Order: sequence, then C-alpha cells, then structure tokens
Amino acid sequence: MINITIGVTSGIACYKALDVCSKLKKLNFNITVVMSEKASKLISPLLFQSLTQNKVYIDMFDNDEIKVSHIELAKNSDFVFIISATYNLIGKIANGIADDFMSTFISACNPKKVTFFPAMNTNMYLNPILQDNLEKLTKYNYTIIKPVSGLLACGDNGIGKLPDVDDIVDEITFIINKTYKYENKKILITAGGTIENIDPVRYISNKSSGKMGYSIAKISALNSAEVTLISTTKTLKVPKGVNKVIYVNNANEMYDAVMDNIQNIDYMFMVAAVSDFRIKNYSENKIKKNDLKDLKLDLELNVDILKKISEIKPRNFKLIGFAAESHDFVENATKKLESKNLDYIILNDISKSTIGFNSDNNKVVIFNKDKNMIDIKENNKEIVAKDILDNIIF
Ligand code: PMT
Repeated sequence: MINITIGVTSGIACYKALDVCSKLKKLNFNITVVMSEKASKLISPLLFQSLTQNKVYIDMFDNDEIKVSHIELAKNSDFVFIISATYNLIGKIANGIADDFMSTFISACNPKKVTFFPAMNTNMYLNPILQDNLEKLTKYNYTIIKPVSGLLACGDNGIGKLPDVDDIVDEITFIINKTYKYENKKILITAGGTIENIDPVRYISNKSSGKMGYSIAKISALNSAEVTLISTTKTLKVPKGVNKVIYVNNANEMYDAVMDNIQNIDYMFMVAAVSDFRIKNYSENKIKKNDLKDLKLDLELNVDILKKISEIKPRNFKLIGFAAESHDFVENATKKLESKNLDYIILNDISKSTIGFNSDNNKVVIFNKDKNMIDIKENNKEIVAKDILDNIIF
C-alpha cells in the first residue's frame, strides 16, 4: 500500500484537507496526517484521526514511541503533500528552519517526495520573498502546485486560492501514478464527434462524447508523452499533463488543426467520430418552421482526414485509426486498415449501449498492419486506453 502523509498548516483553506484525506482513503492509500500546532486549533485532529484511522502528529514531544517519530514518518512516507502550505512554513523550509514537528518532519524527507500546495492572500503570495522561497524550494527538487485565482477568505479577489478538492486529488494521483514510459514521444489525439451546422441553431453530429480520446490523452500524459489534443467537446476536463488543446467544431476545422500539429509527431490516434458528410446548403438564417416541410438537406462528402494523413510522404509516425462498427466487425475494420493505409486499427463494437459511444466503458480489438489481432477486454475507458497504448507504443 502506498503511504501518503498530508501536512496541514493553519491557512483558512486547510479545511479542504479533510475532504482530500477522505477521497484519498477511498482510493486505498494509507494516509497519515501531520498538523501544525495552529492548524490543530482550527480543525480537530480527531477528525483526521477518524478519517484516516491513523495517529495525527502535531507535537515534537508528544511521543509515545521509542523511535524518533518525525524521522520514522519521513522514512515511511512514499509521498508528502502539504495542504495548504502557509507563507510561514514555506519560509521555514526554504531557509532551513526546523522548530516543530511539521518542519522537522519535512526537512527529514527527501525533497523529491514533497509537494507544497501554497494558499494565502494575494499580496502575501506575490511578495517577492515568498516567490524567492518557492524558487529555492523548486531548485532543491520540491514540487510546488500553484494556487488558483478567485475570491479569497480575506475578501480579496486574486491569486492565492487553494484549488478545489477534486483538482487537488487529481494533482496528487497524477504525481503518484506518473511514469516516464513515454517520455520524448509526441502524440496527437483527436476526440469527440464533429458538428456540421445546418443553420445557426441546428446541426448534424453523432453520439461520440470524447471520453475515449480524452482517456488516451490522459494515460499518454500520465506516462510523460508530449500530448496535443484536438477536441470537439469542451464539457470534459482536460487531463492533467496534456500540453496543448485545440477546440474544433467540424471536419474541415479538425483537418486543419491536425495538419497544423502533425510536425515531428511519433503517433497519431484518430479517435474522433468524424462526420462523413456536411450540409451543402447551410442557411445563414435560422430556417423557419413553415419552410421545414419542403426542406431538403443537400449533403456533400467531408474530407477523410485519416486517409489524407496516410498519404503524407515520408510518414515518420505511426497512424492509428478507430473503427466504430455495428456488424461484420472484423471485415469492416480490416477493410479500413487497408484502405486508409494504417499502422493499426482499433475496432470498437458500437452495437451495445454499455460500451463504445458515450459510455464510460469500452471493449476493443487491436489489428496491426499484418491483421494480427489483440483482444482488449471490456473495461473502464482509461484502462482500455492503457491497454491500447501498452500494445502500440514501444
Ligand atoms: O467518444 P466516445 O463517446 O468515448 O466514443 C468513442 C468512440 C466509439 C467514438 C471511438 O472509440 C471510436 O470508435 N472512434 C471512431 C469513430 C469513427 O468515426 O469511426 P469510422 O469507422 O466512421 O471511421 C474510421 C476512422 O476514420 C476513424 O479513426 C475516424 O476518425 C476516421 N475518419 C472518418 C471519417 C472522416 N471523414 N475522416 C476520418 O478521419
């Protein structure tokens, strides 16, 4: 089990640490809490103790153990997160002051495993002394997660706010799960269903939510790839570590965005569900109900983005297509593999509502150039993404 120590100091936002502990506990981490003396006046240590089922450390001399507890805890902590880190604590650690349990504990830890989440009033955060101290901590391999901007407890509006609990948990799980497996790999990913407008109000699209593409982006970034995501949806949270996001609406915009970002890539995952056709007679004005009875929609073919890319010569990257099939699965998918000259095609069964389009789960089969197949079992899209990437990126 991974041992996480959460350091809680006396910033107003430290109440969020309770929720963070509870969420991390549910993810099966072993959590121990260290509180500064002042933080223990703001929140009862008992709350943390009951949430984590572990002793809460506050006082250097409240030691019922034979071993030196701050050193033992430093040795036993795989990761340390300080939520929130005050001006005072940052100043102490950056300048080698260790005068209570919290500061001696942090000083005894390898800096590489310690992450600070600073939170304070905007003027305090922007104070050059604090900024120097943060720089110093970074230089010594501590990790700093910047606060966000917003309304602060003191009534000011500006930078200094502790991120929301879910964002803190995302940061923490990212740090814990990060690997360097795909370091130096440049990956381009498309996600979501394209939208072809009929008039300013109506459009033709499909059921793609973007979840599969975002999952591929998330797992690529988690493993240190350089990720560019071209997305038709703004409703999904951009995964941590994704380097660039470009939002597009229709197939033509997606094609342009792909062409603008294809230089020097190593892999392209064309996960988006691109509309094969668009409206020929787009109406600048909203079509009135009375006109609808005689309305005929003229359609014209969209560019086949994948096919166009496959014609790039020389092609120094692997091209991966996704096939959404409702029947004759293998035959249809392998036809696309050949006709679009792909390195791999990922066959998606969209005949069931529990997998594929707009679902949290998927079940796919990977075909390589030689039509050898690898069956990936049904799972959450993030696990499916991991399985796909593990079989394609070497
Ligand atoms: O977004 P989700 O809700 O998570 O759902 C994920 C998914 C089921 C949409 C996804 O996993 C998937 O199967 N994506 C491919 C959808 C699709 O358009 O399949 P297709 O068989 O019509 O196209 C084959 C390939 O050609 C695809 O990679 C597609 O992006 C590409 N294509 C298609 C048409 C076109 N004009 N240009 C293209 O590049």
